[in-house]
Amino acid sequence: MKLLFATNNVHKLREVREIAGNDFQVLSLKDVNLDTEIPETQATLEGNAAQKARFVYGITGVDCFADDTGLEIDALDGRPGVYSARYAGEGCSFDDNVQKILDELQGIENRKACFRCVVCLILEGKEYLFEGRIPGIITEERSGEGGFGYDPVFLPDGHTMTFSEMPAHLKNGISHRGIAISKMFRSLSSGNLSR
Ligand code: IMP
Repeated sequence: MKLLFATNNVHKLREVREIAGNDFQVLSLKDVNLDTEIPETQATLEGNAAQKARFVYGITGVDCFADDTGLEIDALDGRPGVYSARYAGEGCSFDDNVQKILDELQGIENRKACFRCVVCLILEGKEYLFEGRIPGIITEERSGEGGFGYDPVFLPDGHTMTFSEMPAHLKNGISHRGIAISKMFRSLSSGNLSR
């Protein structure tokens, strides 16, 4: 089965293709010759995931899915949350965002956080939502070279490596996106489409 992934993030594309295995072919926007910014202007992860999927489905008519992720930090009242991509400002880098949360958490003992991912699938015009969460803590320093975004400072509960230090298959097996995307693929395989 072919599904289009509505993302311009090459890291996410790589992760999702690894999770998909052989049963699903995950097409990229390049594969359908779509080279455009995808709007992401809603106030919730659910709203953004649906907005991105609807935008791409509206142009291509191809069954597709989109994800939206937020890092919710307890001591920051759930920030950066839905604003995780541009937390340090318009045009900021992954590293700028990491630095901003490290600065904001300086001297704070409670470093609990949670990655939450919502996936919106559009299949023959119908929408389905899937969610994945992983709790952890924000470390005091960056560790590891892999992954992207906040991975160097996210230590999932019960593990001794940050997401950046983990081999990709280990991160994908436990991550917010891994959980949400696996739910989607399982639902598609079983024909039982529900959240
Ligand atoms: P997006 O809106 O779903 O692209 O995600 C918002 C931001 O969250 C991204 O720009 C990254 O900084 C961060 N993010 C999303 N997924 C991950 C992840 O798996 N690890 C680390 N950071 C992530």
